[in-house]
Amino acid sequence: MMFETFEKYESNVRSYCRKYPVVFDEAKNAELFSEQGERYIDFLAVAGSVNYGHNNPEIKAAVLDYLSSDRIINALDMYTKAKREFIEALENLILIPRKLDYKVMCCGSTGTNAIEAALKLARKNTGRTNVFAFSGAFHGMSMGSLACTTDRISREGAGVPLDNVSFMPYCNSRIDSIEYLKEVLEDDHSGFDKPAAVILETVQAEGGINVADAEWLKAVRKICDDHGIVMIVDDIQVGNGRTGTFFSFERAGIVPDMVVLSKSISGLGMPMSIVLVRPELDIFRPAEHNGTFRGNQLAFVGSKAGIEYYNNHNLESDVKRKSAIIEKFLNERIASLDKRISIRGIGFIWGIDLNGIDPKLAIECVHKAFDNKLILEVAGRHDGVLKVMPPLTIEDNVLVEGLEILEKSIKEVL
Ligand SMILES: Cc1ncc(COP(=O)(O)O)c(C=O)c1O
Repeated sequence: MMFETFEKYESNVRSYCRKYPVVFDEAKNAELFSEQGERYIDFLAVAGSVNYGHNNPEIKAAVLDYLSSDRIINALDMYTKAKREFIEALENLILIPRKLDYKVMCCGSTGTNAIEAALKLARKNTGRTNVFAFSGAFHGMSMGSLACTTDRISREGAGVPLDNVSFMPYCNSRIDSIEYLKEVLEDDHSGFDKPAAVILETVQAEGGINVADAEWLKAVRKICDDHGIVMIVDDIQVGNGRTGTFFSFERAGIVPDMVVLSKSISGLGMPMSIVLVRPELDIFRPAEHNGTFRGNQLAFVGSKAGIEYYNNHNLESDVKRKSAIIEKFLNERIASLDKRISIRGIGFIWGIDLNGIDPKLAIECVHKAFDNKLILEVAGRHDGVLKVMPPLTIEDNVLVEGLEILEKSIKEVL
């Protein structure tokens, strides 16, 4: 009865609801509430879209204030006061303090749309068609992004060949991926077409929480410089403070040629995506990449408030402090449950890899955690990695409560 409307009328493609069979209604910071009022702790954070918490009061107040008068809601890419204030906040509070010189391209509202824009722009700049992506990558579901995405089920959904992308082994693969990259680029008989771009996540999230080393990221940057290849960092899931700094690449001291942001960039979980582009690469003609929802003003308002929240609340030091709580808990209380469990992560994104025991256990843990009122997700090879990704603003006591439910659920399954 509770699910009848969905099961009768909504497409079979729905997925998260099958893991969390409940009807959600309210959400506050790191807690979700069903329509019956049951409380769940959220270790998923809308796949990284609510880094600053569900219904963050400061961000919500800015959005409500905007909505309370007849301010324009969608404006295509016309100039608006809300967009100007968003761009100024991004420049003054995020880019200039980090000495980053980027132009902002507002894209259609999804992450995948901004990835498409970045790929097109890299191809246009270089006149090349091929792109290098990495095994384990996830960049989205539209054709260009999907071509750079590796998981089989997503790719099978395309229905057409996904081409013009070559996959390279990611950091910490069994072979030395930097040597391999150099080899295929330097050998004129390697058979690989020189790419327009190298696209990467500094932490592969959907790929199973694979954290690239800073040295590896630096080496990829150098290879791109040496060969005139555009380096695109997809910070859609691990940007906006998720790894402990606003941009995930800051720890490597590199500057990508393009950075893609979506998910938490709107502050409140609203649709919004942008590409940050080095000015000299900004060569699209007007409307060459277009989209009706590039002008979602509520998202701009939320984004400005989110950026201010990030700075005013010293989120970076708080993430560092609470990240240590997660790391210690996972290493001491979870890894100790079985020596075949491996723990990976950084900042506020952690993975518990159960592939060494049996990948099927991970989804069992997700179901068990749900029964115990914790929202948890799987990722990675064989969906065998549990993904721990609460909002950055989670209260200490709720974080510890969630970690204890996690431990209890894994113990029950093991
Ligand atoms: C790293 C990364 N890139 C791209 C995307 C695609 O974003 P969207 O689902 O908004 O199209 C996602 C979504 O999970 C992602 O995690």
